[in-house]
Amino acid sequence: MSEQDVKNEEKKLAAEKAVEFIKDGMIVGLGSGTTVYFAIKKIGSLVREGLNIIAVSTSVITTELAQSEGINLISLDEAEEIDVTIDGADEVEKNSLNGIKGGGGALLYEKIVALSSKKNIWIVDSGKLVDVLGRYPLPVEVIPFGCKRVFKILKERKLDPVIRKNGNSDYKTDSDNYIFDLHTGEIPDVKKLNDEIKLISGVVETGLFIGIADTVIVAREGSTEVLEKKQ
Ligand code: 5RP
Repeated sequence: MSEQDVKNEEKKLAAEKAVEFIKDGMIVGLGSGTTVYFAIKKIGSLVREGLNIIAVSTSVITTELAQSEGINLISLDEAEEIDVTIDGADEVEKNSLNGIKGGGGALLYEKIVALSSKKNIWIVDSGKLVDVLGRYPLPVEVIPFGCKRVFKILKERKLDPVIRKNGNSDYKTDSDNYIFDLHTGEIPDVKKLNDEIKLISGVVETGLFIGIADTVIVAREGSTEVLEKKQ
C-alpha cells in the first residue's frame, strides 16, 4: 500500500466513525475536503438505505458531491440550527482541540456553519495532531478591495503572508475573495493572534477555529481515537 493509500484508509476510518453520530431526523452540516469526502459518501449510502436527514453544505464542491449522493440540502438560513457538523481540519492542538482550517479554502462558510451547530466533529489522520498550532500555514480570507494593504500589514507584522495560487492565477474562494497563507510558526496565543488579524479592515475570517470542535476523531494505524473537548 502506498503512503497515500494508507492516508486515505485513515481518512475513511475517521469519517465513517463520525457518521455514527448522525441519527434519523437530524440537520447535518457537511464540511469540505478530502476527509469529509468519505463521510459524504457514507452518508449518501445510508440515505439510499433509508436514513432521513437534511444537510447544509460549506462549499460548492461539497454541494456537488452531496447532490450526486442524493443527500437533501437546505441553506443555512433555512436550517437556523444544525444538530451536528462533520468537518476536517489541517492541524489540531491535542489538548485544547483548537485547530487550523482552510487548507481547502472553505474556512469562511465552514466557520459560519460550525458556529451554527450544536455539535462539531472533526475527522483527521494522526499526522495532523500537534502540541502547538502553527506548523501549518494559517489561511486568512481577504476581500479583493484594498487587499495589498492587508498584505503589507501582515508582512510588517512578520506573519509572512503568501497569496494562495490556483495554477497561474490567484486562488478565489466561493465568495470571490483571496486567501493569504500566513507562515506564523508556533502560535503561543491563538486568541490574541486571531483578534489582531481580524481587526485589519478587509480581513473576512481566519482559519483559527478556537473552542469550536467538540469531538475530534483521529485515525491511526487501523483504529480510531476519540478526543473530547475539556469543559
Ligand atoms: C477546507 C478545510 C478542510 O477541512 C481541511 O483543509 C482539511 O482538508 P482535508 O480533509 O482534505 O485534509 O478546512 O477549507
